[in-house]
Amino acid sequence: MTDTLRLKASPRGLARAATVLQGGGLVAFPTETVYGLGGDASNDRAVARIYEAKGRPSFNPLIVHFADLATAQAYVHWSDMAQRVADALWPGPLTLVLPLREGARLSKLVTAGLDTLAVRVPANPVARALLRAAGVPVAAPSANRSGRISPTRAAHVLETLDGRIDAVLDGGACDVGLESTILGLAGKPTLLRPGRVTCEQLTDLLGRPVAQRKDSEQISAPGQLGSHYAPSALVRLNAAEWEPDEARLAFGPVESCDLNLSPTGDLVEAAANLFEYLYRLDATGAPRIAVMPVPHVGLGVAINDRLSRAAAPRN
Ligand code: TXA
Ligand code: MG
Repeated sequence: MTDTLRLKASPRGLARAATVLQGGGLVAFPTETVYGLGGDASNDRAVARIYEAKGRPSFNPLIVHFADLATAQAYVHWSDMAQRVADALWPGPLTLVLPLREGARLSKLVTAGLDTLAVRVPANPVARALLRAAGVPVAAPSANRSGRISPTRAAHVLETLDGRIDAVLDGGACDVGLESTILGLAGKPTLLRPGRVTCEQLTDLLGRPVAQRKDSEQISAPGQLGSHYAPSALVRLNAAEWEPDEARLAFGPVESCDLNLSPTGDLVEAAANLFEYLYRLDATGAPRIAVMPVPHVGLGVAINDRLSRAAAPRN
């Protein structure tokens, strides 16, 4: 593979990125959650290259991104429940899994053989401009090698994918910092991955309970892979005190640490900082990263989900 183009989110950079996508190339682009590794979802070769660039097991299906709701609806069987959550939360950090529409022009590799499709309309203005300009459905997993930390900066993308993808569109830091919440609506509403949109919010919107997927259940979400979002250093959770060889990641008011997710204990700020700080502490070369407890409420559920995967036993 040749060099990865660095593109700015200027009109020229966007036009160039759109052309690369239309030509079957791979472009990493910012969304409000994390950077995505985009390819034309209707092009088998482009989708195959996404799996190859990530080193991702091919049974793990991809989210397809659209510029607006109307375009997304052409690919799935829409429902009242989908309408209710999309009205309230799209564009935004929420992915819906819905029955795939027969005859939808998508590569079979996108769904990995499932009869459902994960669809998302992101809110980030650079993402929306790119999707509009490209005019193709864009399959995009997080733009990192499989199992590594998700990227919230263009530099993170280059750390694991430089030379493996055609271009990266630099739109600065991602606001949310955690991957989208995934809500399964192909059967009874099920939270497949926690994120900024919480289970409580979805329950309120739908006016009915939202089941929580257990990790032991066989469903195609990243949770089925024990270790995920992992830095090179080992990760120790719920640290009450620090040990000498550890990089120290704090939450809330503390006297000494290397980095603090949020000195004031703000979960939104902590989520936005999480992956960037794991990248930075990993770069210090410390053999272990110790992380203080993060309260398991609201957005803390999603933060703890990512932290426990980072700390899971490695294969
Ligand atoms: O915030 C995000 O969602 C980012 C940005 C780029 O949009 N994307 C992202 O993609 O996190 P990825 O591939 O890293 O995680 C998407 C997860 C996959 O692990 C997959 O298991 C699940 O979504 N998924 C995709 N299609 C599915 C389906 N039909 N049924 C159940 N889960 C599905
Ligand atoms: Mg990912």
